[in-house]
Amino acid sequence: MNLWGGRFQGAEDELMKAFDNSLPLGKRYWKEDIEGSLAHAAMLGACGIITKEDAEAIRKGLKEILRDIESGALAIGDEGYEDIHSFVELNLTKRIGEAGKKLHTARSRNDQVAVDSKLFAKNAAAQVEEKLDKLCGALKAKAAANPWLMPGYTHLQRAQAVTFKHTLTAFERMFQRDRKRLRNAVEIMMEDCPLGCGALAGTTHPIDRGMTAAALGFQKPCDNFLDGVSDRDYFCELLGVFAIVLMHLSRLSESIILWCSQEFHFVTLSDAYSTGSSIMPQKKNPDSAELIRGSAGLVYGSLMAMLTEMKGLPLAYNKDMQLDKRAFLPALDDTLMCLEIMSGIVATMTVHPEAMKKALHDGFLNATELADYLVKHGVPFRDAHAVVGAAVLLCEKMGCAIEDLPLEELQKLSLVIGADVYGQLDYENTIKLGVKSQML
Ligand code: ARG
Repeated sequence: MNLWGGRFQGAEDELMKAFDNSLPLGKRYWKEDIEGSLAHAAMLGACGIITKEDAEAIRKGLKEILRDIESGALAIGDEGYEDIHSFVELNLTKRIGEAGKKLHTARSRNDQVAVDSKLFAKNAAAQVEEKLDKLCGALKAKAAANPWLMPGYTHLQRAQAVTFKHTLTAFERMFQRDRKRLRNAVEIMMEDCPLGCGALAGTTHPIDRGMTAAALGFQKPCDNFLDGVSDRDYFCELLGVFAIVLMHLSRLSESIILWCSQEFHFVTLSDAYSTGSSIMPQKKNPDSAELIRGSAGLVYGSLMAMLTEMKGLPLAYNKDMQLDKRAFLPALDDTLMCLEIMSGIVATMTVHPEAMKKALHDGFLNATELADYLVKHGVPFRDAHAVVGAAVLLCEKMGCAIEDLPLEELQKLSLVIGADVYGQLDYENTIKLGVKSQML
């Protein structure tokens, strides 16, 4: 059942038919396709291009189809429809007869799919935003409940004391920016409505593109017909945002995987987000976080696929673009799933402040703070750096921490050091000094 065929004499090869069929993925656009058609038919009626009666019959028919798909009474099965547009239009005509055949007046599937895609992408972005909000909420709640000191790392080497709260908030900030990126991409995408661009060259009918643009939530109709039907930059941009979201999720996953190893033991994942081994009875593995980390690769792949799909296309529509769904939809699903799972991981993990504290006392994480102390007592920073370096060397020799060095030893290194130095070396105390208090 195709929307074309008049100029054909031979039948389409069966394998070719399957190759060309975009219904299996395109059916996910059913709501947006009907929404676009409702706006288009109302405009055709308002502009006198079809009669008011036909427009009304189309509206009713489309609403019925919408309701029936929603309730499950009408399944978008594989009855040989070429795509979702054919499915909706042919079902409409089946239901309302002649008037249904007028729906496609002054429209091409090229501008139709472009508008469907944008509407779908807008709804998809809203779903991702909701999941980002949820994850940010989980991170904030866990952060607020866990103000404990822990080692902060650079090069994965213990560096300076931070708090677990500040660590989780770092990730929350990343996801908040992703949310802005998402909104930004949607705002740009929703400037131009492609409906009315026709196949590539507009139409001779006196359509009102402003009316459909407004009805569908766009700022204005596309300025250029060829551009309107032939770009998919918004999918590229959204996939770019998804890729960044997954990059952030993957970093958080990597941290969690490290933290729940016996080597760190900073957190324990809930059983709900862990799995076991078929042979090693003691194992409890962070598969949830590993799958998220792995999914980043798949989403990057979708971004690459989409960019590559588009880079060589001459104006205007080309069938290559139909494959955008194979890049966008799995990446969307992965992004939604990974965000949801990460929210669960974060909300349910158990934090071990004692293990974090223990790790703090090994590795001279207060060396920079000692240098700050010397600077506050008039020693130029570069000299202070060298003094503390010598202190660390001495500690390594003596097998102790800086705060364990007796005052006499410290004074051998610098005469400005007084008994108050131990206050500066105490982790609980230093975290309250200067801008560090922001981490509390
Ligand atoms: N089936 C296409 C898609 O899903 C839309 C139809 C595009 N137009 C065409 N002349 N084949 O992207």
